[in-house]
Amino acid sequence: MDQITIIGGFPLNGVVEVGGAKNAALPILAASLLGGGECIIDRVPQVRDLITMAKLLELLGVNVQTEGGRVVLEASNVQSIEAPYDLVKTMRASILALGPLLTRLGEAKVSLPGGCAIGSRPVNLHLKGLAMMGAEIQVEHGYIHAKARRLKGARIDLDFPTVTGTENLIMAACLAEGTTSLHHVAREPEIGDLCAFLTKRGAKILGAGTDTIIIEGVSELHGAQHEVMPDRVEAGTFVMAGAITGGDLTVKGCITDHLGNVLTKIQEMGVELTECPDGVRIRRSAPLQAVEVKTLPYPGFPTDLQAQMMALMSVAEGTSILTETIFEGRFLHVPELHRMGASIETDGPHAVVKGIPSLTGAPVMASDLRASAGLVLAGLAAEGETTVSRVYHLDRGYERLEEKLGAVGAKVQRVREVQ
Ligand code: EPU
Repeated sequence: MDQITIIGGFPLNGVVEVGGAKNAALPILAASLLGGGECIIDRVPQVRDLITMAKLLELLGVNVQTEGGRVVLEASNVQSIEAPYDLVKTMRASILALGPLLTRLGEAKVSLPGGCAIGSRPVNLHLKGLAMMGAEIQVEHGYIHAKARRLKGARIDLDFPTVTGTENLIMAACLAEGTTSLHHVAREPEIGDLCAFLTKRGAKILGAGTDTIIIEGVSELHGAQHEVMPDRVEAGTFVMAGAITGGDLTVKGCITDHLGNVLTKIQEMGVELTECPDGVRIRRSAPLQAVEVKTLPYPGFPTDLQAQMMALMSVAEGTSILTETIFEGRFLHVPELHRMGASIETDGPHAVVKGIPSLTGAPVMASDLRASAGLVLAGLAAEGETTVSRVYHLDRGYERLEEKLGAVGAKVQRVREVQ
């Protein structure tokens, strides 16, 4: 297993570029299953989760050609209905095959994802919605087995705005008979990007980006070309990297609107942010200040930036409060930050972070994708050397992170495991 070694204390200066969004590219690639015709997807980040999604689609019978950031998919001959456990257990987003397979082929068999480091993450809302559209669903032998001759449009009110649940139901509704109205759905920008792609393929969707989406089913979709939106979580991670090291960093190629109150919180911490065309410039001349942050569904503060925010709070003046409301188990980075000297106490969903003047480098272990990014940020600010092990978590969702940070002045290096 590779490791990342960081020598802390070097400010980041220069320009760092944001890539395509993992969490938009995943449903967009899954949406290739909805019909034949060539789908050309650009700015697909080359990260492990996307490689896993391509593997799953190939297994189902999709012809997938990858060349750099371009993925070309052709799904005329989808032969299999099964997403097997071996793949699903390595990537929960495989559940995104359920809606498209069911609505296209009338049957789908997708392994239940099982446990996850950040919380229990059930998929009951995906299944409830599909059942309301007429699917017969059985969960047996660890698999979700869904059948429907043709799904029927329905009114569906979600109990919670689940992101991939919303995406599954939108994709299923595209080929259903009649009109589906989805209420209290997730409003994450990645859903807007998926809807933009589906619309290019001939789907009829109204209200993307709002909490009510109306879809009029059509009999088939055709091919289309699409460029994936910029990754707002990668952008937020870079903004925080600039803030924690105190240099002069410009994060280019991001949509600042998508960062919403992340930028507000960073400013509250005493960081100077200047919007520039196509990005944001980050400078800091005084110590970071404590803030209160609560993770919420979009447009609230994203849970995917919570661990990174905790790294900043660890070295901010004063006491910060961080409340995680989306995933009950997403504090596994706390004991690792303790190893670097951080003063953090957790109580249920709350973390009380007493800022200290400086963290100290230490060997730490990544537990999930975003926790790894939090530890890298902590390492950038710490005195001495930090080694982050289990970076395969990081590789699931960040493209060449150490290269990108290295190019703006971070002393960061990947140590490859000798086989
Ligand atoms: N939930 C249910 N029932 C369901 C679905 C969700 O109770 O049927 C609960 C979950 O247990 C959780 C909450 O609802 O407590 C939110 O889960 P959601 O379904 O919205 O999350 P997800 O769709 O599984 C996506 C992202 C995650 C991101 C979350 C929240 C993708 C592929 N994944 O997951 O991204 O954290 O939304 O914004 O889009 C990451 O990139 O590191 C990552 C984990």
